[in-house]
Amino acid sequence: MGSPSFTDRLNAVAADTEALLARLLDGTPLPGETARPERLVAAMRHAALGGGKRLRPFLLVESATLFGAPRDGALLAGCALELLHCYSLVHDDLPAMDNDDLRRGRPTVHKAFDDATAILAGDALLTLAFDILARDEVHADAKVRIALVRELARASGLGGMAGGQMLDLSAEGRFAEKRALSEKEIVTLQAMKTGALLRFACRAGALLGQADAGHLAAMERYGAAIGEAFQIADDLLDVEGDAATLGKAAHKDADAGKATLVAALGVAGARAKLEALIDAADGALAPFGAKADTLRDAARFVAERRN
Ligand code: IPE
Ligand code: IPE
Ligand code: MG
Ligand code: MG
Ligand code: MG
Repeated sequence: MGSPSFTDRLNAVAADTEALLARLLDGTPLPGETARPERLVAAMRHAALGGGKRLRPFLLVESATLFGAPRDGALLAGCALELLHCYSLVHDDLPAMDNDDLRRGRPTVHKAFDDATAILAGDALLTLAFDILARDEVHADAKVRIALVRELARASGLGGMAGGQMLDLSAEGRFAEKRALSEKEIVTLQAMKTGALLRFACRAGALLGQADAGHLAAMERYGAAIGEAFQIADDLLDVEGDAATLGKAAHKDADAGKATLVAALGVAGARAKLEALIDAADGALAPFGAKADTLRDAARFVAERRN
């Protein structure tokens, strides 16, 4: 028996994430909560359970492993990040945003429930993420937990994911006359809307392992490269994929007027950029040698994934 394959490792984190999320989204109120309304619990479970690649928890757990941090705390932090990601998807799919009916092969939350419930489910997933990240079980040192909370807030808020979503909608020409974005502007938009959470996943593993500044900077470079690569791959899949494989609608971005590198550089240009980013991710991991092979495989997976 050799060491587990990349797919085995990804599946193991996905299964552990699913089981832990199911417990975290239980209907029983926690101390300090009054009641957990059944419809809201059901909508949150619809958003978070039974699908998704769980790539963000995987990157967080594998980065933590690289720095010798215990798996249980990393998995809990990974669940917090996944809940935040699920919130971003619920709101991204709303009629006022991308207006999508299919997500992870199932009806989107606003289709299965209604718009108001989807908005509240997103709100409650977002706040639950920070509740979880602050818990003692994430890391014994409160300073580490505070660093994680602050970094996730910055990755997901005004200057991160939410800000990037604002730029994404603006670029469609919704609020003023449409103007073609430069390549640099598209890279910034995507680093915010998508890259920031993936970068956080990689930094969080290093923070949990109390890595030194040099190693943290290496993980920052790795995370930034795969974060950028991830959205390029998503945009290529929108052009080249189909709804049955993707579990979400395809061929939407061009009609919506989305600012993507596929639109700016063409398919071949975007693919070349993707390859360069995978090389950059690989280069960032050089200080870790063969210990980082799973993260190297993860970069390749980001580029070659079919959904
Ligand atoms: C989709 O993310 C949204 C983007 C940031 C492009 P994923 O492709 O990771 O979605 P799931 O979690 O696997 O469904
Ligand atoms: C979504 O980008 C990014 C976030 C949810 C923050 P997209 O709008 O391209 O994601 P999909 O294609 O709907 O998954
Ligand atoms: Mg979107
Ligand atoms: Mg979308
Ligand atoms: Mg997309």
